[in-house]
Amino acid sequence: MRALLFVLLCAVFSPLLMVGSMVFAFKVRFVNVPRGISGTAYEPYMARLALHLIGSRRDDVSERIAPHLPALSPLIMGLLVKPMALASRWSGFRGSFFAYPGPRPSTLMTFISHRTHFFDTAIAEAAAADSPIRQLVFLGAGWDTRSYCPLPDGADPSGGGVKIFEVDEPPTQEAKVRALRDAGVDCDHVTFAPTDFNQQSWLESLTAHGFDKDVPTFILWEGVTMYLDDAAVSKTLAEVAGLAPGSRIAFDFLGRELVFAESPHVLLGNQMKYALKSYYGESMHFGISTAAPARQQVLDFFEGRGLDVENFEPLGRESGRGTPIGGLILAAA
Ligand SMILES: C[S@@+](CC[C@H](N)C(=O)[O-])C[C@H]1O[C@@H](n2cnc3c(N)ncnc32)[C@H](O)[C@@H]1O
Repeated sequence: MRALLFVLLCAVFSPLLMVGSMVFAFKVRFVNVPRGISGTAYEPYMARLALHLIGSRRDDVSERIAPHLPALSPLIMGLLVKPMALASRWSGFRGSFFAYPGPRPSTLMTFISHRTHFFDTAIAEAAAADSPIRQLVFLGAGWDTRSYCPLPDGADPSGGGVKIFEVDEPPTQEAKVRALRDAGVDCDHVTFAPTDFNQQSWLESLTAHGFDKDVPTFILWEGVTMYLDDAAVSKTLAEVAGLAPGSRIAFDFLGRELVFAESPHVLLGNQMKYALKSYYGESMHFGISTAAPARQQVLDFFEGRGLDVENFEPLGRESGRGTPIGGLILAAA
């Protein structure tokens, strides 16, 4: 009944949703991307914003900065994001797509909610009062707002004595800082280190901005590895392995089978490749095989890298002959 009401409300709102999607797509492609600002950063951000507006996962700052991000505006919010949220709120329907922490095993439709929950939990543990972690780094931070408000379980990365750094390509970071300031969000406790991972070592850049590599550090690397090449990923992991003992990195990856459109993900891989290139002008380069047994493939990948895998969760079904679309990793130096 709730699902039916949701579908009916979406049908009523469909003219607004269609116009909103077109204006948003136009702004991403022809305003955002030509300025060198990440287009893919909107994917996880819009998912977190939707979870917030629907009431599944609180993230006030994502809503506050929305009208100030380069490809969004109050008009797009009113045409695209808010009608969808209203349809969910009025019908009471959340389904698995709008659920947080979402179902396990996750699917292509629900993996961002799974991923968000995995990283929320890892950051909350790192920011807890009894945690030895003293520095928190968001590598490829995009429009992530975890530095600016409490996490869903109440943990507040910005509240303790943990020093917070955000690293991203200069145009994306400049746009974020502008959006935060325009929205009146306090960001003075965050150190911004503009860096292109392909041109410069993020560790050198962070060190130049006051980062101390001898202090236990937590690094979040969410939604980034797939856009880098093998060498850049290996270099980052080697740099994390060289940080103070107890330091951790949490990141997600896509399966090699998906990134390179190999069996059993030929169709999906090709569709993603085409959509990413034509819409965002970006390409996928890195993946770890998730062919069964996926867990063993991950352990093999980490062999000799100086990092212990503390947690691995597949994105998708791992049992039997399943080939997950990717995975989530927490590893310690
Ligand atoms: C899909 S977004 C993820 C953003 C954020 N971590 C989140 O989950 O919301 C990928 C991010 O990685 C950044 N990125 C991609 N390639 C990069 C590079 N070579 N150097 C620095 N940042 C990069 C992009 O600018 C973007 O912010």
